[in-house]
Amino acid sequence: AAPAPLSATGRGPQADGPPRAQDGAYLTNAQGTRLPDSDHSLKAGPRGPVLLQDHHLREKITHFDHERIPERVVHARGAAAHGVFESYGAGARISRAGFLAAGAKTPVFVRFSTVLGSRGSADTVRDTRGFATKFYTDEGVFDLVGNNIPVFFIRDAIKFPDVVHAAKPHPDREIPQAQSAHDTFWDFVSLHTEATHHTLWNMSDRGIPRSYRTMEGFGIHTFRLVDAEGATCLVKWHWKPKLGVHSLTWDEAQLIGGTDPDYHRRDLYDAIEAGAYPQWELGVQVMPDTPEQTFEGIDLLDPTKIVPEELAPVQALGLMTLHANPTNFFAEVEQVAFHPGHLVPGIDVTDDPLLAGRLFSYLDTQITRLGGPNFAQIPINRTHAPVNDMLRDGFHQDAVHTGVAPYKPNSLDGGCPFFAGADGQALAEHAFVEHPQPVPESRKVRELPASFDDHFSQPRLFWASMTPVEQEHIINAYGFELGKCTEPAVRERNLRVLARIDGRLCAEVAAALGLPAPEGDPADGPAEPSPALSQLGRDWPVA
Ligand code: HEM
Repeated sequence: AAPAPLSATGRGPQADGPPRAQDGAYLTNAQGTRLPDSDHSLKAGPRGPVLLQDHHLREKITHFDHERIPERVVHARGAAAHGVFESYGAGARISRAGFLAAGAKTPVFVRFSTVLGSRGSADTVRDTRGFATKFYTDEGVFDLVGNNIPVFFIRDAIKFPDVVHAAKPHPDREIPQAQSAHDTFWDFVSLHTEATHHTLWNMSDRGIPRSYRTMEGFGIHTFRLVDAEGATCLVKWHWKPKLGVHSLTWDEAQLIGGTDPDYHRRDLYDAIEAGAYPQWELGVQVMPDTPEQTFEGIDLLDPTKIVPEELAPVQALGLMTLHANPTNFFAEVEQVAFHPGHLVPGIDVTDDPLLAGRLFSYLDTQITRLGGPNFAQIPINRTHAPVNDMLRDGFHQDAVHTGVAPYKPNSLDGGCPFFAGADGQALAEHAFVEHPQPVPESRKVRELPASFDDHFSQPRLFWASMTPVEQEHIINAYGFELGKCTEPAVRERNLRVLARIDGRLCAEVAAALGLPAPEGDPADGPAEPSPALSQLGRDWPVA
């Protein structure tokens, strides 16, 4: 009989059937050949040597030997869930993204993570949490790859290997920072004081969330939204949990870390199984797109700065509900590939130098982590929009492409209708077009703008906005963490950083360490905050 024709997927009839997972009447090998026995190797007699001839033995063990893929270089430990995003429609006024239109419902997949621990590390450690959302929109995939802290340690991606090397386990002992001596992290953040704001959030209760369900999420960078007429605004993305923001106490986090290291993973899974679906509102702070790209004196291209919500309230765009757990952890949670450059028409990037580096890094790392350039074909990563690309071949190519001309222009496979003529006009309406943002006339430089120089006014604002109990927790956290540092110079330098945030914070942490509080150096004095910022927060310490 003639061989069965290739199916629509080009992968043969087997690929269109149900997934091959313990559901057949009999066991087969990978080639579909039935197996009578998967428990015993083929031997030359019951007590004789095992025969190399045994293909099933070799296939079973070889496949097992290759079951693991590299874990993510950061954010290795995570948990995820499926859900839906329902748009309220308010976003349609500022962006032409179809999924923000009134009533639009878009499937999503969300992965929460810690940053520094390995795949098997504990959930309740003090760390930043990742909050990455994949929107499977009709116009292509949009990934919002954010964290639960609204600022970042660095503002130039060239520093990312430095901050991660400083924060990962010590190279000699491979002991995670939270458990033992961790001079390297504190060495780095005290020398690289733009990290102060993020570090202060980490030392607050935000660094030990009670549950993924009670975390806020932030896109951090400023993005540019483009409406149907081409008008633009600048926005910062926010996820607001319906359950409110809740943290653990340090003692709770320590105890749970010992008794139930999977606490956050279990909590998310159990809540969804029980039908208590977690929900978040997606919102934006909207700022005018001025040539300066600043707002109330805040440089919007600096990812170590927030825009206080008192100055730009978060406006709700829609509701996300997570309602289904993954079917298979490896297939979905491990293989999902987020990328801040996965954008849809109506959402564009800005010139934030940290974001620029991210646009390179994720695709690059995923080529290694997911074994080649074709991971967009892995089911969890597949767009729900039709794909018609000219990407060909490579490791793990799953498609059987037809046609002879994966190039443009061509005269053999229908030419190139997309880019010319009346059809081209219509198709461009739904195309992603980079906003023609003017590029400032300048010269090649490596330095950052002077507007990025203020490292302390926003940490001070954060500290001043804390309640006494929250301030106590921050003091205790610094006392505990710096108490683990073995280098006196590292401790002392960190105290000098704290002195630039608040005298009492510095004095109390110094007391906890049994050290004298350093004298404030006027040369280290605070940069003046913007007039608008100086109105915010209790006890604003700048006269
Ligand atoms: C992974 C957020 C900065 C490189 C992740 C993940 C999140 C995240 C949430 C986990 C994604 C997942 O669940 O699979 C952020 C945020 C940043 C930031 C909010 C700053 C605002 C950077 C920078 C770089 C970088 C500056 C490099 C220049 C990576 C890499 C991964 C990753 C290589 C692993 C990706 C993978 O293996 O799929 N990041 N990140 N990140 N990030 Fe970032």
